[in-house]
Amino acid sequence: MSQNVMITGTGRAVGLGYNLVLRYLEAGDNVVATVRQRSEELESLQEQYKDKLTILTMDIGSTESVEMAASTLMKKMDHLDLLINNAVTASRDCDKGFFDADLDLITHTLDIIAVGTMRVVKAFYPLLVKAEGTALIMNISSEAGSIEKCYRTNMIDYGMGKAALNMATMNLYNTFKDERKVNIFAIHPGWIRTDGKADNPAPLSSYEAAGILKDLFAERREDFTGHRFITNEGVDYPF
Ligand SMILES: NC(=O)c1ccc[n+]([C@@H]2O[C@H](COP(=O)([O-])OP(=O)(O)OC[C@H]3O[C@@H](n4cnc5c(N)ncnc54)[C@H](OP(=O)(O)O)[C@@H]3O)[C@@H](O)[C@H]2O)c1
Repeated sequence: MSQNVMITGTGRAVGLGYNLVLRYLEAGDNVVATVRQRSEELESLQEQYKDKLTILTMDIGSTESVEMAASTLMKKMDHLDLLINNAVTASRDCDKGFFDADLDLITHTLDIIAVGTMRVVKAFYPLLVKAEGTALIMNISSEAGSIEKCYRTNMIDYGMGKAALNMATMNLYNTFKDERKVNIFAIHPGWIRTDGKADNPAPLSSYEAAGILKDLFAERREDFTGHRFITNEGVDYPF
């Protein structure tokens, strides 16, 4: 049976979000793809998949924008089975170390990666609880968000954002787990050529990574007991 799937940050054809959209459309699901602004790549998918694809404009840095997108979707769709929080940002100083990075840039990255994801969960929760079975939220995190495994001295804003996203995931899991209507995980999606460059040494294209994740998400929907931070291979990863 087809499911209703929403994915954030989907405008770039070489990115993971867009390729998740493509994978679920290919499987016959109804897909809601969110973007901040018009994306020609996504609109050409719309020509192909017509009503199976809904494109929503939403800036996850703005509660007003997220709530408006949710109320627009509620007029069209009566539930969501799967929400994939994929949208991400990083500051221009992401590659710099502590002494060179402008620390004031961290706030925005944290706001988008962690708080932005929670804004989305809060606004779309009424649609998730209306799913027939268990609805699933998959927060696309990163190994860079693991405090225990941290080895870097750069990527401070991105790493802090993903660590905060992992904490948000655990807090929301505790909030939802007794009712068992909504399940939630944070996932490291693998090392992916999300810049679309052939010389990128990452082993997975975004399309390959999206296929692996799609299968894993289906397996984990009803898992309320396992570890909350996992890799794309389904292996527990330390917070
Ligand atoms: N590449 C890897 O090896 C790797 C490893 C670990 C984790 N990840 C994670 O995998 C995910 C996908 O990465 P990707 O590079 O392929 O990204 P992507 O799927 O292209 O998605 C990123 C999108 O997020 C959107 N975004 C930024 N700020 C936003 C905001 N305020 N509101 C709404 N959307 C916003 C951007 O949209 P605009 O077009 O509007 O700017 C951008 O297109 C990310 O969560 C990333 O952290 C990747």
